[in-house]
Amino acid sequence: MAGLTDRVLRQLMDEIGGCGAMVSEMIAAEGLRRRNRRTMEMIAGFPTQTPQFIQLFGANPEALAEAAAIVSSETAYAGIDLNMGCPVPKVVRTGAGSGLLQDLPRLAAVVAAVRRSTALPLTVKVRLGFSKVNVLETTRIIEQEGADAVAVHLRLKSDGYAGSARWELVGAIRANLRIPLLGNGDIMTLAFALEKMRTVDGVLIGRGALANPFLFREITGQDTLESDWGGYVRRLAVLIAEHYPERKRLGKLKAFTRFLVLSRPGSRSWKRRIFLSQDFQEARGFLEETFPCR
Ligand SMILES: Cc1cc2nc3c(=O)[nH]c(=O)nc-3n(C[C@H](O)[C@H](O)[C@H](O)COP(=O)(O)O)c2cc1C
Repeated sequence: MAGLTDRVLRQLMDEIGGCGAMVSEMIAAEGLRRRNRRTMEMIAGFPTQTPQFIQLFGANPEALAEAAAIVSSETAYAGIDLNMGCPVPKVVRTGAGSGLLQDLPRLAAVVAAVRRSTALPLTVKVRLGFSKVNVLETTRIIEQEGADAVAVHLRLKSDGYAGSARWELVGAIRANLRIPLLGNGDIMTLAFALEKMRTVDGVLIGRGALANPFLFREITGQDTLESDWGGYVRRLAVLIAEHYPERKRLGKLKAFTRFLVLSRPGSRSWKRRIFLSQDFQEARGFLEETFPCR
């Protein structure tokens, strides 16, 4: 997730454990191909127990293939995921992200070119469609062009993040495919995760991972203690301070904790306190007070 699954969050999720694989923020193929300094910083490797995939976005098959080749030969990423779901106008305008769901010949060319350029596991993430459902077609093409698995965020591009993910559609999508199907959307609790894992080959968890970073461990059968939360916010602050300059720290802390409130009772008052904080130390102190480390 852009702005969220950076090195800090992935390192922390790896330390907490429980998830099968992690995916980077979306990375511009053009930036990687030109070895743009900021892009290279974003993809910098670090050792983890959990396999890490890099997610690439772009609309030009050649640029994506070249970026995938660089990932294969110069990085330790375990696999490549292609973004065909991003609804942000700036991205869609260029034909990338969910823009590809409207241009099936280009979608096919992108998957084929990347498949030819890398032997790494290749997954593709789509939405149900752009403004109408065409997921049976897109996922079929993605399979035919050689992807190893396909992930579906069960909303249309035109839904943005509104309404509920349409999990009732996964049966038909899965029946149409031979490669594994990963389902995505609205998994916030252990019960919902376990229920949905019965209907697909795997699930992707986005906002739920920030709302409850222990969700993956809970799925693998471990309980969450109150002290785990205390440890989480402290470690988060340490890693942010380690990896970001002062001027970026407060924004990052707010971004990561924005979703925490979704899983915490009585969260409204401390959410306000964090959002009203003027600097990183103030917000950090407040978080540490709210989540004691017993
Ligand atoms: C702030 C934010 C940034 C996101 N960035 C990306 C991204 O870079 N790549 C991607 O595939 N999905 C991205 N997503 C979408 C999520 O991965 C996911 O598909 C969506 O939020 C639904 O799943 P969830 O309910 O588990 O969060 C983003 C979502 C949010 C809220």
